[in-house]
Amino acid sequence: MNQLKISVAGAGAMGAGIAQVAATYGHQVTLYDSFQAALDKAKPAVRKSLDKAVEKNKLTAEKADAVMSAIRFTSDLNDISGSDLFIEAIVEQIEAKQNLFCEVEKLVSDQCILATNTSSLPVIAIGSNCKNQERIIGLHFFNPPVLMQLVEVIPTFNTKAAITESCKTLMQNWGKVPVIAKDTPGFIVNRIARPYYGEALRIYEESIAGFETIDHAMKSVGGFKMGPFELMDFIGNDINYKVTETVFGQMFYDPRYKPSITQKRLFEGKLYGRKTGKGYYNYANPSEPKPSNDEALLQSIFDRIFAMLVNEAADALMMQIASAEDIELAMTKGVNYPMGLLQWANTKGPEKVLATLQHLFEWYGEDRYRPSPLLKRVVADKTLFKTR
Ligand SMILES: NC(=O)c1ccc[n+]([C@@H]2O[C@H](COP(=O)([O-])OP(=O)(O)OC[C@H]3O[C@@H](n4cnc5c(N)ncnc54)[C@H](O)[C@@H]3O)[C@@H](O)[C@H]2O)c1
Repeated sequence: MNQLKISVAGAGAMGAGIAQVAATYGHQVTLYDSFQAALDKAKPAVRKSLDKAVEKNKLTAEKADAVMSAIRFTSDLNDISGSDLFIEAIVEQIEAKQNLFCEVEKLVSDQCILATNTSSLPVIAIGSNCKNQERIIGLHFFNPPVLMQLVEVIPTFNTKAAITESCKTLMQNWGKVPVIAKDTPGFIVNRIARPYYGEALRIYEESIAGFETIDHAMKSVGGFKMGPFELMDFIGNDINYKVTETVFGQMFYDPRYKPSITQKRLFEGKLYGRKTGKGYYNYANPSEPKPSNDEALLQSIFDRIFAMLVNEAADALMMQIASAEDIELAMTKGVNYPMGLLQWANTKGPEKVLATLQHLFEWYGEDRYRPSPLLKRVVADKTLFKTR
């Protein structure tokens, strides 16, 4: 693999991890942050992560040292000059990102690819003040970038096809699983996964079941590794709520993505979850969870959330947000779902999923539950979802 000069801006959780991955694959890396304190934190964090990899026999001690010395930590943006690829992972604010991209454009050659790791902002808007927009692209890594395989590659209307292809190849060379996503709200994962949280919250708000029971249903009936409330506490209710709110706004307030008052209150009360000691669960003073074991209840909770997830996946496929294969990869590699949602729906029977949605749609009379036309077509044609 050609050794490239890779620059990463933002030495936070994501930027430091991306820099480590790039250096592990033999590149010279410049990790830039405008705050010296962030660099002072990032350096030992990368060292610790490499030491862990050595302990687990994933790296030799020599390789870990080589990776460490391949990363230059700097607070001087001029050090990114000569880069072949620039990856931005600074604070999630459009103006900060737009300004940085304009500054970077002045420092690098026309051949340098400019990528953003944004989770929720339009990629096209981040590069909209740049002179050359053909080399701007999204490279959305998942947290932690060292461990998570999925990378959403997001070309805009302006991105040259060759840039998309070379980013995809580079990510494969870094041992990642790249999927191509349209520059639309939430890309693939953060769009399709919304009902996992939103529908769980709705079920709770209607007093159908408590947090523990909903979590238990998704784990015991569905085989998910974490229930929705455990997962929201793990991600952080600040981050998860903000993503929901952003996707909802960017989808022109489609009721399918409506945020929940419950989560908003947790966010407002700084009950972010594990990192603050309390969220849906109390981590400082844990109590033994007592979920219901009513099998019919557990099954109905799973069926409802599952139907909403499949509906979202079907709609994303219909809207060509990504190919069926990439939708399946995104949900299994990005959020560790036990099976791709389209394949899973095929196994359960698309007609059963449609029946659940139609029941919810009639019962509540809400647009939130409208079945995807693609799901209806698959059922009407008595076929299955294409998954490749
Ligand atoms: N945390 C996640 O789970 C996750 C996952 C995927 C993508 N992202 C995206 O990655 C980006 C970074 O997220 P994070 O969680 O690493 O954030 P973070 O807060 O841990 O790190 C951001 C870093 O950017 C630096 N910074 C802020 N403004 C800057 C500027 N103008 N110039 C240079 N450096 C600046 C800060 O000092 C900080 O070190 C965001 O766009 C976020 O949406 C986050």
